[in-house]
Amino acid sequence: MSLMTPASPRHRIAQLLLAAALFGACQQTSGHAPQTASVAPPALDAAKPAALPGLHNVVAYAPGLISGGVPEGEEGLHTLAAMGIKTVISVDGATPDVATAEKLGIRYVHLPISYDTVTPERQQQLAQAISSLPGPVYMHCHHGKHRSAAALGSASVLAGKLTPEQACSRMEVSGTSASYKGLWKAVREAKPMDAGQLHADPQGFPSISKVSGMVATMSEIDLVWDLVKQAKAAGWKAPADHPDLVATKEASRLARLFANLQQDADSVKLPADYQTQLRHSIDLTAQLDAAVAGGNAAKAAELMTAIEKGCKDCHKGYRDN
Ligand code: HEC
Repeated sequence: MSLMTPASPRHRIAQLLLAAALFGACQQTSGHAPQTASVAPPALDAAKPAALPGLHNVVAYAPGLISGGVPEGEEGLHTLAAMGIKTVISVDGATPDVATAEKLGIRYVHLPISYDTVTPERQQQLAQAISSLPGPVYMHCHHGKHRSAAALGSASVLAGKLTPEQACSRMEVSGTSASYKGLWKAVREAKPMDAGQLHADPQGFPSISKVSGMVATMSEIDLVWDLVKQAKAAGWKAPADHPDLVATKEASRLARLFANLQQDADSVKLPADYQTQLRHSIDLTAQLDAAVAGGNAAKAAELMTAIEKGCKDCHKGYRDN
């Protein structure tokens, strides 16, 4: 009976399947072909991103090409499977959950990009990946707003599926921030590849790519920061949809990750001003750890605003250009 508890992801998927089946039935009466029971992908002309179980900021760019946030746990991957997705491409630094995807018959490909640009080589690989691997394809970063949008936008132009203008208008829907100038430039300046060069050996794409220590730590910081924000929004208790989240544990983990950066081989090479900013973030996250442990919600809220500003300031100088 455990499968039937209302909070169970499977139950929510079952509801979606039912909704999709009913939707299919309605379509039939209006003369369309009956749909098989599945989660419908968002419409190509949707003006807003879709939220589905375990998936955020989902936007269709072209037929069979969808961008969005990282699949959250098994629930997200189950939704992708129910949508008929055959290939998931991560452009995020975090290591993808290849094993769960494979169990669901989904191929995972990992081709990480940074926030400053989509390099010409990466654009070509991504264009080859969406042209050579089985579709539909779901491309994700962490939030599904900036990097996956630019990655899919530019790859779609190279693959001859969209013009740069069309790709940019889908990026607007994804919510790509104007401050990532290099990401926008990559898409605006993208040009279709030679059709003959679009096909590549499907076996040649990596399921997991090695990223530098600093990128890996930052991906984890991003993930933990999200969890801390969710805990704050739930009044520093476990959120209803995330019952195993322990706020004090995540606040400690955040502080530890920042402290560890001081020994990171890439981080130590950065200039003095960066080191000052890093020390400031280490100090703030240590204080947040103490405030959360001590149940001081007002202080914790104040510190989180300062920490968030720290992320933005440092990225402006050392990540995004
Ligand atoms: C002291 C500077 C500094 C602070 C503070 C900082 N970052 Fe970063 N972050 C960086 C740099 C530099 C990179 C780029 C690393 C690279 O590409 O080699 C980066 C990269 C990232 C990435 C991209 C990882 C990837 O997959 O490529 C994410 C996500 C991120 N940071 C999140 C955060 C969050 C969230 C915070 C605040 C809670 C934060 N960072 C605070 C310097 C900082």
